[in-house]
Amino acid sequence: MRIALLGYGKMGKLIERIAIERGHEVVVTVDETNRSKVTDDQLKQADVAIEFTMPAVAVENYKWCFDLGVPVVSGTTGWLDRWEEVTAYCEQHRGGFFYASNFSIGVNIFFRLNNYLARLMHDFDDYKVFIEETHHIHKLDAPSGTAITIAEGILENHGGYSSWELNQGETVAKDILPVTAKRIGEVPGIHAVNYRSEVDEIEIRHSAFSREGFAKGAVLAAEFLKGKTGVLGMEDMLKL
Ligand SMILES: NC(=O)c1ccc[n+]([C@@H]2O[C@H](COP(=O)([O-])OP(=O)(O)OC[C@H]3O[C@@H](n4cnc5c(N)ncnc54)[C@H](O)[C@@H]3O)[C@@H](O)[C@H]2O)c1
Repeated sequence: MRIALLGYGKMGKLIERIAIERGHEVVVTVDETNRSKVTDDQLKQADVAIEFTMPAVAVENYKWCFDLGVPVVSGTTGWLDRWEEVTAYCEQHRGGFFYASNFSIGVNIFFRLNNYLARLMHDFDDYKVFIEETHHIHKLDAPSGTAITIAEGILENHGGYSSWELNQGETVAKDILPVTAKRIGEVPGIHAVNYRSEVDEIEIRHSAFSREGFAKGAVLAAEFLKGKTGVLGMEDMLKL
């Protein structure tokens, strides 16, 4: 498969290595230094584009791909307030878009576990839930896209919370789900959901050891997306 890499930072470089190991060819790499020089014809050579850039430029990159009929896999976080606009643009152009806030297979199993636990905890008022995520100091957005997915899973499945709030400590109203974001050193990503009562706590936790799991998931998603149209995600690929 011929791959275009949009974003050639920490994730882009790792994705390149894994894609080549899996027998694919990287036909063009784009970052902020050469973005204005890369032509439509260069991008059109790709069967799939893999986009890991920055919140401020991701949507423009998706539209570039949809305009040229190149399906795009993306893991850039922090732009989801424009989800409706992007998916409508994709549908209008009969494009292919695979998005995941987290490409790790373990995290996607964790999402399922989180939804199940939230349903279970609905009947137990003594437990108050909170989410804590920790990432490296270079991360631009907070909370992480993964923490937002976890929070939305709890809101949908628990029923006792109306919204989540970032970094407000435990002083929030009873129906608010507190989310804490920490930025420490080079931590690849830790997410924990904790239900605490006066007498005990139940915690589920996922810790990534490196970025490899995300990069491999993105290459698998590109293999899955090739030749398909529509808006797809990890649920479609993993059939959990
Ligand atoms: N979904 C996941 O599983 C997952 C995992 C890790 C990181 N991420 C997200 O991926 C994104 C990238 O992470 P990173 O660690 O590689 O960041 P990074 O800062 O190392 O790399 C970002 C790259 O984007 C490039 N860029 C900037 N503007 C551009 C433009 N207009 N067009 C093309 N490229 C442009 C930069 O030059 C740089 O190469 C972040 O949003 C991060 O949160 C997601």
